Amino acid sequence: MSAYLDNAATSWPKPETVYQAVDHFMREVGATPGRGGHRREEEAARIADEARAALAELFHAPDPNGVAFTMNATQAINMALKGLLKAGDHVITSSIEHNALWRPLKALERRGVAVTAVPCTRSGALDPAEVEAAIRPSTRLIALLHASNVLGTILPVAKIGALAHRRGIPFLVDAAQTVGAYPIDMQAMHIDLLAFPGHKGLFGPHGTGGLVVRPGIVLETWIEGGSGTESAPETMPESLPLRLEAGTQNAAGIAGLLAGVRFVLEQGVEKIRQHEMGLTALLIEALRGTQGLTILGPEDSAQRTAVVSVNIEGYVPDQLAMVLDQVFDIATRAGLHCAPQAHRTAGTLEVGALRFSPGYFNTADEIHEAAEALKSIL
Ligand SMILES: Cc1ncc(COP(=O)(O)O)c(C=O)c1O
Repeated sequence: MSAYLDNAATSWPKPETVYQAVDHFMREVGATPGRGGHRREEEAARIADEARAALAELFHAPDPNGVAFTMNATQAINMALKGLLKAGDHVITSSIEHNALWRPLKALERRGVAVTAVPCTRSGALDPAEVEAAIRPSTRLIALLHASNVLGTILPVAKIGALAHRRGIPFLVDAAQTVGAYPIDMQAMHIDLLAFPGHKGLFGPHGTGGLVVRPGIVLETWIEGGSGTESAPETMPESLPLRLEAGTQNAAGIAGLLAGVRFVLEQGVEKIRQHEMGLTALLIEALRGTQGLTILGPEDSAQRTAVVSVNIEGYVPDQLAMVLDQVFDIATRAGLHCAPQAHRTAGTLEVGALRFSPGYFNTADEIHEAAEALKSIL
C-alpha cells in the first residue's frame, strides 16, 4: 500500500470530474475568455463565469465579479498587499505566517510600510485582544492566515474580522489551508479580501487560485496588460475582475477548478471536514505516546485542520520523510514548510518538522499504515 499525505501542499488525487473538465476544455473548447468573437470564446467565458459564481457561493462572497483568478494563493496575497499598502501605512499580521504573506510584507517594510506581527502561543493561538491592541491610527490592513500549514491551528478570523470591521480596517485572509475543508463566510466573518489556492482543498489543477475582493475595496494594479474588453484606455479597467486579470488566464485550469468547486459543494464542506478530522484524530491517537515524539499545534482538534506535524528527538525530519517515501511509498513533507515564522513560534526553527497532511481521498488504513511505518523506522 502507498499513501499520499501531502495534501497541505497540493491535494491529490483529484475528483474524476476535474481530470475530465481539463481534458474537455483543452480538446473541445480551446478558446480564451474575452478574446475572440466566436462560440468557443463564449463557452470559455461561460465556464470562467460559472467558476466565479461557484466560488462566490462557497465563500458567501458578496459579488461573483469580485473573484479574480491568479496562479496560486501567493499571487493573490501579493495582489492584495501591494494593491493596498503604501509607505507610511501600518499593517498587522501574526507570528505564524507562511512566506507567501510574510515575504511580501518584508518587501513592503523595506519600502516604508510598518509591520506588526502579533505573537501567537507555541501552539499557534492568537488572541484577538492583542490584535486590537496593536491597532494604530495608520493601520491600513489586518492580514492573517486562516490556518497554519505547520501547526494546523485555526485562527479566530470571525472575531478579528468583527473587530476590523468595527474599527473600519480592511481584513485580508489567506485561506490556503482552509478552503474546501472549513466553512468560510466572507460576509459573516467580515473578510474584505480572501486569497485562495485552487490546487489544494478545492481540488483544482496547479496554476489556479484567486483573490476575492469585496465591492468597495479598490486595489492598485500589480500587473497591467490586455483585458480582452475595455481596451481603449491606457490604464487598466476600474471594473472587477478585469482590473486584476491582465493577460491570458489559465482557462483550462479554471475549468478544472470549477469541477473541483462543484465537487466540494456537492459533498459539502462539513462532510469533507469530518472525514479529514477523523483521519487526523486517528493519526494523532496512533502516534501519541511514541517515545521522543512531540505533536505540534493545539491539543483541541476543534482548533485545528488536517495537518499533523511532529518532531522526534534524535531524528532529522528530512531523513524520516525520505525513508517513508523510498521504503514505504508514503508521501509527507519535512523541513520548514515555507513557514519559518511558524517554526520560530513553535520553537522548531532549527530542525523543522515532519508533516502529515491527510486529505479527503485518504483512508483510515492509509493512516494506520503511515503511523506503523514511522514507528518501524524509529
Ligand atoms: C498558509 C499558506 N499560505 C499560502 C500558501 C501558498 O499557496 P500557493 O502555493 O497556492 O501560492 C500556502 C501553501 O502551502 C500556505 O500553506
